[in-house]
Amino acid sequence: MKHIVIRGGHRLEGVLPVQGAKNSVLPILAATILHPGTTVLRGCPRLSDVEASIRILRHLGCDAQWQGEELVVDASSVSRWDVPDHLMREMRSSVIFLGAILARLGKAEMSYPGGCELGPRPIDLHLSALRKLGAAVEEKGGRLCCEAAALEGREIALSLPSVGATENAMLAACGARGETVIVNAAREPEIVDLQNFLRSMGCTVRGAGSSTICVAGGQLTKDCIHTVMPDRIVAATYLSAAAAAGGEVELTHVDYRHLSTVTAALHEAGCRVIGGEGRILLRSDGALKAISAVRTAPYPGFPTDAQAILMAALLKSRGTTVFVENMFDNRYRHVDELCRMGADISVADRVAVVTGVPRLSGATVRCTDLRGGAALMVAGVSAEGETCIEDIHHICRGYADPVGDLAALGADIRWEER
Ligand code: EPZ
Repeated sequence: MKHIVIRGGHRLEGVLPVQGAKNSVLPILAATILHPGTTVLRGCPRLSDVEASIRILRHLGCDAQWQGEELVVDASSVSRWDVPDHLMREMRSSVIFLGAILARLGKAEMSYPGGCELGPRPIDLHLSALRKLGAAVEEKGGRLCCEAAALEGREIALSLPSVGATENAMLAACGARGETVIVNAAREPEIVDLQNFLRSMGCTVRGAGSSTICVAGGQLTKDCIHTVMPDRIVAATYLSAAAAAGGEVELTHVDYRHLSTVTAALHEAGCRVIGGEGRILLRSDGALKAISAVRTAPYPGFPTDAQAILMAALLKSRGTTVFVENMFDNRYRHVDELCRMGADISVADRVAVVTGVPRLSGATVRCTDLRGGAALMVAGVSAEGETCIEDIHHICRGYADPVGDLAALGADIRWEER
């Protein structure tokens, strides 16, 4: 089995470019089937979730190949409308293919994505959006069967600014007759990147980044080239690691505005953070202080995906920090693993109270989910001794080269077979 082994205590120094965004490229890969032609994606991160999406595209009849650092998808002949169970189980967010398959073929079938490590992951908002556009959606025997002779543009009001439901509605709306207006849409930067991709493919989409998105369906699409936006959560991970370990790190190929709530928290904890055009510089003496309460919220609020990561950075801070996880029911599974390293964290329902301790000790710990695994890396670089991180497949879902990246910044980190 492959593990990540970190020997903490080293300051992090250097300049590092940030990989492309997982949560942008996944909906964009689904969107490639809207066009019966070729799409070239640049800056596409090599992640297991991307490989899972490629397997789905190939199953549907597309040709998807890496050509050097570019991912080229030819969706000229999409012939299947079903996503088989084994592919759905590989990646929960495969549900994002639903709207695109429906728009292209008029029908779509897949197993119910079900929950994941973060707790139940309902898709009621996805399904109600597709029904609003005229799709008949049946849920039987754990499978979703959708049919739509013709999708019709409508107003879709989301009761929650769901990222996935917004993306599914946008993709289905591209195949609808007339205009669709999505009200209370998610405002994440990844939605803006999806809009930019759809526009480069010839679709008429506007309003992404605001709560109201308009899509004019039925546009003629064309071959296009798109560069995937930088991953703001990967950026938050490496800044948090530098904050905890101490040092001076500059991230490039990053939009500092996309993670301003995270950099504000790191600044409050005592780091110097300077955001510039395409770059963020962080300096830390490693002696952080506790900060005011961290409450996760839809963008532009504090990102739930950075909750575990920031928590790991504050484990040795002076004082007590309160976290409130408002987005998912089960997003503190990393806490027990951090406590194995000597952290002092108590959890009650949605609240986690982190009291700083003088030191962390390396230990053998287990990834519970993607960002929980990232938090273990942040804790490992600031712990005394050696940390061995198991079940690292969770980390590989969202980080293209975590060992290479952190080693480039001076961390003593390696892959190890055990
Ligand atoms: C996306 O998940 C991201 N995943 C998640 O990142 C991220 O944590 C999340 O958005 C919130 O920012 C991808 O983009 C692939 P939601 P998604 O729909 O779309 C509830 C990571 O670590 N909800 O915005 O599934 C839901 O239960 C991953 O990279 C419904 O009730 O998130 C949750 O409480 C983890 N009904 C809240 O909305 C629905 O139909 C937000 O979920 C849909 C969602």
